[in-house]
Amino acid sequence: MLDIHSHILPGVDDGARNIETALKIAEESVRQGLTGIVATPHFMEEGYRMTPAELKERVERLQKEIDDKGLQLRVYPGAEVFIYPSLVEDFEKGLVPTINDGRYILLELPLDRFPVYTEEVLYNLKAAGTEIILCHPERYQEIMKNPDIFYNWVKEGIYGQLNTGSILGVFGERVKKTAVLLLKSNTIHLLGSDVHSLDRRKQNFRDGLERIALLKDGLVEELLENNQRVINNEKLLSNDALYNKKKKGFMRKFREYFTKPLFV
Ligand SMILES: [Fe+2]
Repeated sequence: MLDIHSHILPGVDDGARNIETALKIAEESVRQGLTGIVATPHFMEEGYRMTPAELKERVERLQKEIDDKGLQLRVYPGAEVFIYPSLVEDFEKGLVPTINDGRYILLELPLDRFPVYTEEVLYNLKAAGTEIILCHPERYQEIMKNPDIFYNWVKEGIYGQLNTGSILGVFGERVKKTAVLLLKSNTIHLLGSDVHSLDRRKQNFRDGLERIALLKDGLVEELLENNQRVINNEKLLSNDALYNKKKKGFMRKFREYFTKPLFV
């Protein structure tokens, strides 16, 4: 069982402060039945930023400490990539880490308002050969207000990763309600704890699974299978989004836009 979103890597972002905290998170993860965890430190245009090579080296260092403690937990490299206009250019230069060096990228948007360039970046990232996983769609104000936005993205091949804390009420009632709605409409494909520390943003993967299992038979198994498939760089299982609004998707919109001659 794998957790694909965590801030276990020590001393790199607002997650685990030091190796002691990282090891305690590792210990708790094993206790909850996890055998693997993806370290997804924040990656931004400025500030938090590590090259895939630096990230790999730090993950190897943490893995060694975990092995020395005798814990059966494998750490994989990844990043939680915050959107910015020139993200695709950086990706094409090989500067942006993906999950376990595969084609899946864990993308984060601002919690309050989505920038005007959002769909253009989504389009270009897909066109560059990535598979996009939007982290915690249930936490964004815009999706809470209008889930259609996310349903339409899912129809265009974007995947959703739910935070286990969301279904447990860690981020409030509104996020919890949105989490249930997205799970029930088949727009969530993957699970992550988004663990940051030992207290408020702690490892709660197992509790989240138990709550999700109450919603629909077989759902947890499917989500866990997808978590494994991301690590293996394989195609994910996906149900058609139940919500089916007849609306022009952004992929078509951009495809039309980019094929239009510039001057007529
Ligand atoms: Fe995160």
